[in-house]
Amino acid sequence: MNNHPLKVLILGGAGFIGRHAALALQARGHAVVIASRDPSRAGRRLPVELFLCERREAHLDWLTAPSAWNGLLRGIDCVVNAVGILRERGFETFERVHIRGPRALAEACARRSIRLVHVSALGLTDNSRNRFLRSKLLGERVIAGTRADYSIVRPSLLEGAGGFGAEWLRRVARWPLHPLPMDARGRVAALDVRDLAEAIAALCQQRNRPELREVELGGGVRRTLAEHLEALRAATGNRPALRLPVPAPLAWLGAQVCDLLHLTPVSASQLELLRRDNLPRPNLLPALIGRAPTPVGREPFAAEPSYAQRAKAA
Ligand SMILES: NC(=O)c1ccc[n+]([C@@H]2O[C@H](COP(=O)([O-])OP(=O)(O)OC[C@H]3O[C@@H](n4cnc5c(N)ncnc54)[C@H](OP(=O)(O)O)[C@@H]3O)[C@@H](O)[C@H]2O)c1
Repeated sequence: MNNHPLKVLILGGAGFIGRHAALALQARGHAVVIASRDPSRAGRRLPVELFLCERREAHLDWLTAPSAWNGLLRGIDCVVNAVGILRERGFETFERVHIRGPRALAEACARRSIRLVHVSALGLTDNSRNRFLRSKLLGERVIAGTRADYSIVRPSLLEGAGGFGAEWLRRVARWPLHPLPMDARGRVAALDVRDLAEAIAALCQQRNRPELREVELGGGVRRTLAEHLEALRAATGNRPALRLPVPAPLAWLGAQVCDLLHLTPVSASQLELLRRDNLPRPNLLPALIGRAPTPVGREPFAAEPSYAQRAKAA
């Protein structure tokens, strides 16, 4: 394990996972560089502890050749890639953001002996028909095909204040009626985003550990979507909600409309993931953070942090 202070570039550092990873790394004494498509505006989404961090501009959809990374990687010991898009927009395609950019990044890291921690997701399979899920899987494969010293991190569903999906689930949990796709029978092991951030920080300090190339992470409890919403609702002190089963074809149609109009985190990819278990095998979280996972959905929600509110307003 490398205990020396590192300089860590966090791609997507103003996003949900990225800013928590930045806080966890900073707490361990590392210097953090926040990369964003718009570094000056990224400040609005950062907690005050990160205001003084260096910021660099990065567009993964432009950085598709290893040489394009030269400037960004200057002076960097480790890169955390917490970039992801749920939907395509113009040049920001799944192909460029999830596959070509990460491949060029991994090759550039290999040339400079820079460690790479890449955030992916659980439940990616070859037989998925969803383009988002396929692109995330291919992103993993192209990184694995390089000589980079990498860890691919696959977290389960995340809980925490300020996340787009997490805030939506908290909102739905407060409703007295929970609409639930009838085929959403898979279980997740939701984890607290701060636990994930600690695990990412720990991985940044590891070098050349083949057993940490694929790292699956989850919380301590396995729940279906219905049970997860109920657990979140219990944290609000309300009585259990009524469940409204939504026929699978109707849920699928709704997700297509949401994808088309870029509405809500409800998407065809999320629905597909909910049909089967998405559990870490094995769950490396306790070993990486040195304790049991933080319970999800027992304590009252912390108030949404002011930087997350500013992010929404922006
Ligand atoms: N949230 C979850 O429950 C969850 C669970 C498992 C896995 N994941 C995976 O984790 C990753 C990040 O998730 P998140 O929840 O942190 O998402 P997020 O809050 O939306 O953050 C993603 C960041 O990506 C950056 N980004 C988007 N397009 C970019 C581009 N073309 N070039 C450079 N940066 C770009 C954005 O930064 P700027 O706007 O500052 O440029 C944004 O802040 C995704 O790949 C997701 O699939 C998330």
